[in-house]
Amino acid sequence: MERHTGYFHEVEKEIAAAAGNRKGLALLDVGTGTGERLQRVVSEIRPHRVAAIDESPEMAVLAQRNCPSAQVLAMPLGAPELPGALSERFDLVICLSNVLGHIPKTQLVAGLKQIRSLMKPGGAFVFDVNNRYNAATYGLLSVIRNMARDRVLPGGGDFTAAYRDSEEVLHTPVHLFSPSEVAWMLRESGLKIASIGFRDYVTGQERGRFGGSIVVKAVSE
Ligand SMILES: C[S@@+](CC[C@H](N)C(=O)[O-])C[C@H]1O[C@@H](n2cnc3c(N)ncnc32)[C@H](O)[C@@H]1O
Repeated sequence: MERHTGYFHEVEKEIAAAAGNRKGLALLDVGTGTGERLQRVVSEIRPHRVAAIDESPEMAVLAQRNCPSAQVLAMPLGAPELPGALSERFDLVICLSNVLGHIPKTQLVAGLKQIRSLMKPGGAFVFDVNNRYNAATYGLLSVIRNMARDRVLPGGGDFTAAYRDSEEVLHTPVHLFSPSEVAWMLRESGLKIASIGFRDYVTGQERGRFGGSIVVKAVSE
């Protein structure tokens, strides 16, 4: 994770820019994980109200500890009881580090529609996802293979990621997105792209479509 610190900081600058100087800002973090990143964002933009969700109860406990000012709910995106559990709507919703790539494909558009319904009019949704055409990270050959596969068999992009947890190697399914897929899912959800960019996954510097992760700011249509 430390390798990606520069990238994380640049994404967080985009979040700060999206927050602007709004007074009384309400912030929601979807898939907050340990909440450490949320706490960093909170220290930077100083929202009036903060909420966060994570489908993992263990993560929700950690997030509450690491970001005490937040209302943290152990709930997955798309849970029907989520809107009722959050008492207000949000100026800014964030969803960072490819959280959307962990949501089953069949639930993705419904999840994004729920995010839209949780946004105030004029609110913004900032997220980043892994780009399966990122040759700088995955290598040129893999990207050529991914592009060829997408031409023949649309609907690809599912991989198994391996993480080392002390002695154990854990495997988890993850989806890597293509830029056109991102545009499609936002359109289907009634969200409009305000900006889309590609950032080097290590330094966070802006790159072309084959050189970085996808960072998006979307607004409600
Ligand atoms: C890669 S971590 C990202 C954590 C954090 N956003 C960050 O940038 O540090 C992905 C997190 O998303 C959560 N998650 C996965 N699917 C989810 C869902 N359907 N609803 C809410 N959280 C989810 C996981 O439990 C995990 O904590």
